[in-house]
Amino acid sequence: MSQCASVHTVKPLPIKMLGGMSRPSSSVDNMPEPTSLTQDGLAKVADGPGVDELVWARGLRKTYGDFTAVDGVDISVRRGESFGFLGPNGAGKSSTMRMIGAVSPATEGRLRILGRDPVTEGPAIRARLGVVPQADNLDQELTVRENLLIYGRYFGIPRAQIRARADELLDFVQLTDRADDLVEPLSGGMKRRLTIARSLINEPELLLLDEPTTGLDPQARHALWDRLFRLKQRGVTLVLTTHYMDEAEQLCDRLVVMDKGRIAAEGSPAELIGTYSTREVLELRFPTGENEAHAAGLADLADRIEVLPDRLLLYTDDGDAAATAVVERGLRPSSVLVRRSSLEDVFLRLTGRSLVE
Ligand SMILES: Nc1ncnc2c1ncn2[C@@H]1O[C@H](COP(=O)(O)OP(=O)(O)OP(=O)(O)O)[C@@H](O)[C@H]1O
Ligand SMILES: [Mg+2]
Repeated sequence: MSQCASVHTVKPLPIKMLGGMSRPSSSVDNMPEPTSLTQDGLAKVADGPGVDELVWARGLRKTYGDFTAVDGVDISVRRGESFGFLGPNGAGKSSTMRMIGAVSPATEGRLRILGRDPVTEGPAIRARLGVVPQADNLDQELTVRENLLIYGRYFGIPRAQIRARADELLDFVQLTDRADDLVEPLSGGMKRRLTIARSLINEPELLLLDEPTTGLDPQARHALWDRLFRLKQRGVTLVLTTHYMDEAEQLCDRLVVMDKGRIAAEGSPAELIGTYSTREVLELRFPTGENEAHAAGLADLADRIEVLPDRLLLYTDDGDAAATAVVERGLRPSSVLVRRSSLEDVFLRLTGRSLVE
């Protein structure tokens, strides 16, 4: 997709459209940038984003009163990449996304979005972003199509162009047959698809999606993944948050595991699994209360054992061999499952907790 109209003709997004997020109220990072000269004699920002880094943050912090929600994170998202924040409730994902969306000022740290400073260039940044907030904020009293048309007008896009784009986007999210229906009675999945369509009306080069599929049934989630995958193929850079490991595995080229405002690890899904887990996991279920007692006797069969309330997880590169050894020791678990390691295992290893509690 091409870029939207010149930023000079674009009005800043109304706050309502951005999920009730607050507008930046104070300047946070007015430190002069250290500069040097390139070989061409041009001023170059040292320790700043590269030309292809659409999101660049160093030491980013966000506090609310005494509470630190984001505690010094470094992020680099390259053009064309699909980048994810994976973390449980309260990890600081939305707080980070609102800073990246240039609607919430950082308390500390340095941040550049599309090479620009959100403190001084918020409207120009927001004009080139698509934002899907965690909670849908569609206008329930308007029709599906009207939601797109009105949103498009905030960007100063000519009406005929908005109408053409709206039709194209409704087709893209498979809502053409609901175009003239009110939003209110739509299903959750349809509303989410409409919010995504709306976020694309200005043909953004960077799309921010805060938990795009939370609360949707598996079919609706897969339909949304398909749409997001197509956007990525068209060259749109995606930044998303999720607490679904399968979503992170499906959609993200690279992700950070976030917990308690900090980044615990970073890499591609395969790299993270390779670094923090074994190839396979043997899941054993014993009658309630017996899991802990069996763990000690099985320790030598695995690189690591996790005792969860309802099952034991034996981390090993050969799950079948471990399962056979368990049976040879005369143990009869009520269920035995060998599976590949997932990002859930990575999270458990890094934090000692499950992603969805
Ligand atoms: N406006 C605010 N004022 C005060 N505290 C806030 C505010 N926004 C977020 N917080 C707190 O900051 C922490 C991180 O919240 P945030 O919404 O960023 O987490 P999250 O990772 O998006 O969680 P979730 O998965 O539940 O959406 C939470 O403890 C939250 O209560
Ligand atoms: Mg959130």
